[in-house]
Parts: sequence; structure tokens; C-alpha cells
Amino acid sequence: MTLLAISLSAVILAVFLWWQNNGISVSNVIYTCSDLPDAFDGFRILHVSDLHNKAFGKGQKRIIGVMAHTKPDMIAVTGDIIDKRRFGTAAALTLALEAVKVAPVYYVPGNHEKTAGIYEQLSERLKSLGVKVIANDAERIERNGAEIILAGVKDWEFYRPGITKEERKSGRTRADAEFELRLSVLSRQHPSGFRVLLSHRPEKMDVYAKYGYHLVLTGHAHGGQWRFPFVGGLYAPNQGILPEYSSGIHYEGQTGMVVSRGLGNSGFPLRLFNRPELVVVTLKRR
Ligand SMILES: [Fe+2]
Repeated sequence: MTLLAISLSAVILAVFLWWQNNGISVSNVIYTCSDLPDAFDGFRILHVSDLHNKAFGKGQKRIIGVMAHTKPDMIAVTGDIIDKRRFGTAAALTLALEAVKVAPVYYVPGNHEKTAGIYEQLSERLKSLGVKVIANDAERIERNGAEIILAGVKDWEFYRPGITKEERKSGRTRADAEFELRLSVLSRQHPSGFRVLLSHRPEKMDVYAKYGYHLVLTGHAHGGQWRFPFVGGLYAPNQGILPEYSSGIHYEGQTGMVVSRGLGNSGFPLRLFNRPELVVVTLKRR
């Protein structure tokens, strides 16, 4: 192979890999339900997850442009907006600052907000920018005289400190119980109406279904990092090899759960056939 051919191949590979990790894709999901109030038929939720403090252009201009183009009624951010391995919060706060100009932004923290050790400060900064932090809390979203419940639960990682080896071996920990307790309290506080839950991790699908949420928005799996036809995602944290929940919408009982493939990377720095993803969830009344 000539030097020219080798150089050309290297450039093509570099462009391809850049696009795989920086080219934003928009996925559309339609969630249909007979419990949805008429006023929310056609309501568009822009689901943003796992930024991991990544920058998409100067001042997040590139991603904000795509977000605005989707014309959302609200924006739901499901955690890992920062990364414990990458110092700082600048990219995350810039995204928040610009996103609130597009539509009302609601946020729940993921595992990285906990392990980075700066959740409280981050949460206050996000609130000061106009982001509604719904960590173990809920908001009523109103539209033309009707309302839906938007609940948010802090990630499982927030309840993890202090887990003993025995608990780990038994397969169920106090963190599992604490996480479920928060969902059960939220569920009792808002027992009726059309209920949407924001929660970082998808592998708790059975618990979300147990408390009867209509729609759950999650992330955490990063699409399985590398994706292949007929296989799907390759690996996701807390689910392992060939994860069940890494993309798209899944149903259990009356619960539909959307799994965003997310935007950034964390420990493993490369996405393959799994471009950064924004999800537009359109609610439809059956
Ligand atoms: Fe993440």
C-alpha cells in the first residue's frame, strides 16, 4: 500500500470515529395510552441523558440547535449530566443554561452525580439556571386545564454507601430496598392520573412496573456502547454483556420504559454504530 493510500485510510477512519461519537442522532418514540388526558395528545418530551460533561460545539451550540429543531414541549434530563472522571461542570451547566431557553427542563441525578461528590452544589446551580430538579419529588405539568404527574427518583447509587458483603452476596441490598421505598412513597403521594417517572437506570424495570407508572424515561446503558445488527448493545453497566435494556421502548404490565442511548461516554471512551442520541417521545391518546 502506498503512503498516500495509508494516509487516506487513516483520515477516513478518523472522520468515521469522530462522527460515531459526535454526530447527534434524533430518535422518535410514540407512546400511546388511553389514560392520557386529551389535552396532552401530541405532547412532545425531549429526552436527554448521559451527557457526561461532553461538549457538542462551542457553547453547546450544535446540540442546542438540534434540540430546538425538535420543538419540544418539555425537556427531561435523566442523569449523568456530569462525569466523575472528567473534572468540572462547565459543559453540563452550559447545556442547562441554553436548554431552558428551548423548553422547561426537568432533571434527576444519575450515579455520576453521586460518585463525583458534588451533587448538592450542582443541584443548586441547576436550580439557579431555571432547571426544575425533581429528585425524589414530583411536579404537576398543566396543559389546557388538564394535568399529568412528572415524578423523579434519585439514582440507586445515592442509597448505596454502607452495603455489606453479606448483602451483596444475598443479591438484594438495602440500596435496592431504599430505592424501591422512594418509588413507593412517590407513588402514594401521587396515586392517580397519568404518571411519568424520570429515573436514571433501566434495569429496575420490574420495580417501575410494580408501582404502575405509565411511562418511565431512563438512560445509563449508553446503548450498550457498541451496537451490532441482530445483537443490539454489547455491554452496559449493571446489566453486563448483551444487556436487555439498552435502547428503544420496553413494556411490562401497563408501564412503557424508554431507554436513551445517551450522549457521552464515561470509563470506556468509544461508541461504535451507536451515535449520541436525543429521543423525542410523543404522547398519544388511544
Ligand atoms: Fe452514564
